[in-house]
Amino acid sequence: MSDNATTRVTIPSLRAMKAAGTRIVALTAYDYPQAALVERAGVDLILVGDSLGMVVLGYPNTIPVTMDEMVHHAKAVTRACRRSLVIADMPYFSFHLSEGETIRNASRFLKEAGAAGVKIEGATPARLRLVRALVEAEIPVMGHVGLTPQSIHRFGQYKVKGKETGEAARIRREASALAKAGAFAVVLECVPAELGRRITRDLSVPTIGIGAGPDCDGQILVFHDLLGFGTEPLPKYVRTYANLAGVIGGAVRRYAEDVRRGAYPDDAHSYHAAARPARTTGRGAAGRGKVS
Ligand code: KIV
Repeated sequence: MSDNATTRVTIPSLRAMKAAGTRIVALTAYDYPQAALVERAGVDLILVGDSLGMVVLGYPNTIPVTMDEMVHHAKAVTRACRRSLVIADMPYFSFHLSEGETIRNASRFLKEAGAAGVKIEGATPARLRLVRALVEAEIPVMGHVGLTPQSIHRFGQYKVKGKETGEAARIRREASALAKAGAFAVVLECVPAELGRRITRDLSVPTIGIGAGPDCDGQILVFHDLLGFGTEPLPKYVRTYANLAGVIGGAVRRYAEDVRRGAYPDDAHSYHAAARPARTTGRGAAGRGKVS
């Protein structure tokens, strides 16, 4: 957590954290209760990631996620946040047609959802032009290089990027170009730790790693992966800090058993009719339970 637990994290404060050597803690969240818990735990940056599609909406990858779905979830997240910086992911095909449409889509996250900026995958020359245009339109941008999940059909599979020197040099150039284009931070996904360290040294803006080794300025994970709340096989870089799937599955199984054997609801969880008013006094007896 940055120095003051109640001061809102801003884009300049992320840069100050890098300069001070204070590691940035980032995590995804997709709805109000998740974001409330994540913010209360002191996470600096909350990303409403398009991983939404896979961990919440049940899509096979992030490609089908729409702007409307992202805005809907970003709204729920920002309602819970007073301190954490909320950034929203530009979903596939929200920034592919024209500069005007890209800015209009990105602005929805700020105007409708109250996010502080957007994340955009990739660093092709066309993408860098979009980053410049967004920044020019007062929309802060977080870049994303290495494994970019929206390129799944081109990549064929989710795999570590930058193991070979040629590809590593390209990713390094892309990260620097994003920073030069005005990105306030760059996500490095699934790259060797050595490359993560090197890019972190190259850039004056923070790097946020996910499977990019310990030397990035910050780390991010997907909420459901951190909490063991999914069914997918997890990538090597994930450390799971809880087994929510087990806790929730066990609780639901106990509930189902109780319903089937008639043990739920019992008297303590049932309402009762009020007693008839006594004729002599005209005063009714109080009902049991909290009736609303
Ligand atoms: O969509 C997402 O959750 C992300 C993070 C994994 C960086 O892009």
